[in-house]
Formats: sequence, structure tokens, C-alpha cells
Amino acid sequence: MNVVPDPWRDVDGQANVDEMAAGLEARGRTATQARLRRRFLRFARVAPGERVLEVGCGTGVVVRDLIALVGRRGEVVGVDSSRRILRKARALCRESARGRRLTLRAADGAQLPFAAGRFDAALAITVILHVADPLRVVREMARVTRPGGRVGLQDQDFGAVAVTHPERELTDHILHGVATHIYPEPHSGRRLPGLLRAAGLDGVRLQTDVFQDTTLEPWTKTFLERRAERAIRFGLVDAATAQRWLDGFTALVAQGAFVLTINYYGAVGAKPR
Ligand SMILES: C[S@@+](CC[C@H](N)C(=O)[O-])C[C@H]1O[C@@H](n2cnc3c(N)ncnc32)[C@H](O)[C@@H]1O
Repeated sequence: MNVVPDPWRDVDGQANVDEMAAGLEARGRTATQARLRRRFLRFARVAPGERVLEVGCGTGVVVRDLIALVGRRGEVVGVDSSRRILRKARALCRESARGRRLTLRAADGAQLPFAAGRFDAALAITVILHVADPLRVVREMARVTRPGGRVGLQDQDFGAVAVTHPERELTDHILHGVATHIYPEPHSGRRLPGLLRAAGLDGVRLQTDVFQDTTLEPWTKTFLERRAERAIRFGLVDAATAQRWLDGFTALVAQGAFVLTINYYGAVGAKPR
């Protein structure tokens, strides 16, 4: 398989960091995405007063939710391997962090600069899909979590994208073809419970959630346009076919018949006491 580097693995090496950051914020603002993110944080039982680590915090979409959940007595630490995305996060979190304990710092999830047992909970949201060695990252998250604390992971699963389109085979060809070109493991979501168990966590629970869009919201539109661009780049389709594919969605929206869903898997395990 001709696996091309996933841009999220090396954000600082990309030419379009501003666009990537804007994409995270657009996703964060999308109401269905916000709901499934917050349902996951409830499932992970993030509570007032807790010390919570987010690995791969990006522009701080989840960090801002966490600040509100842990309150004034709690503490949030966000780490990301990209210094450029962290610069955005600092600006975007400034307001929410007023009077709260928030630290944002550069670090690789595979080598966290924290003592063992430092946090009540360690979370990674749409990050495990992008890392080279998921088990190593989850073991690190477990190390820095206190005994009895939680490690929580949430990921979309690119084998579980369902979308209406008049050309079903072409749609499968593009969506499956692009995902397998970019990600060594496009089915990351469904593998999260097994990953937590392999990292030694107990009482692993799974919450499956679904992102749904019936109007072609800006984040979904960009997602499909990127898939089309990459399908051309990877030689899966020519430019005219990619455009025809995109036009197919626009026509469905006009008819009120557009549906796109993506499964999100949230898994939480406890560190043995
Ligand atoms: C898709 S974004 C998710 C950001 C955020 N969690 C959210 O849901 O909005 C993935 C983030 O993980 C970061 N990342 C990728 N590999 C990483 C690693 N090995 N260690 C730490 N962060 C990493 C990227 O720089 C990027 O900001």
C-alpha cells in the first residue's frame, strides 16, 4: 500500500497550518460534533476539581470544554506535537482560561514530560488515528494517570462512513481508496477498546456515537472536497470524475435527500489500583 504521510502527523511540516487549524475550529463549532464530543466527556466522567490531560489538543476545542467541566479547582493540561497549532490554541483558549489552571505545551504523546500518576484522567480525541505507534501513546497516557484514574480515547472510523450518492461504487472507491492511502489503520475507532486493554487498563467501556449531517455543513463540505482532491492526487479518479462526484452531493442537498454519517467510538478504561 502506498501510504502517504498523514498531514496530522506532522502539522508543522505542512504549508496550510492556518487552514488545518480553521478546519478543527469549524468541526468544533458544528453542533452535532459538539454534542458527540461532550457526550464522550460525560462518558469519561470528567468531574469538577480533576486534573485532566489532553494529548493532541490541537487548537484547544476540547480543552475549552474541559476547562468548563473541571471548574476553578481543577486543572487542564493540553499537549500537542505541533508548536504552530499550540500558538493558535494559546490565543483561542485565553478567554476561557482566565482565572483557571491551564497549561499548553509541546510534547509527543509517545513520550510525555510528566511524572507517573500526575493526572486523574488522560484523554485523546481524534488523535490515535494519526499517531505512528498507538499502543505506545496509550501506555504513556496510562503511566501519567493515577491508579484508579481513567484513560479515554475517541476516534472516528473511516470504515464506517455512510453517505447518500447516486454513484455508490464510485463513492466507495473514493472514500475507501483515500482513507487507505492516508492511514495505515483507517479503522482506528473500532480498535480503541482493544488498545486500552492491551495497555493494561481495566473495566474498559465503549460508547459508539454517530456524527450526522443532512445539510452539507461547512465541515462536511470541506471533508468531501478534500477526499475528492486526494482521490485525484492518488490517481484514483480523474478531475472530471471527482467534480461529478462532488456535484452529486450538491444535487442531493437541493432535493433534501443528503445524509452523511460517521461512526465515532469512545472508549474509557481505568488504571488498576
Ligand atoms: C485531528 S487533530 C485533533 C485535535 C483536538 N483533539 C480536537 O479534537 O479538536 C490531531 C492533533 O494531534 C496532534 N498530534 C499528532 N500526533 C501527535 C503525537 N504523536 N503527539 C502529540 N500530538 C500529536 C496533531 O498535531 C493535531 O493537533
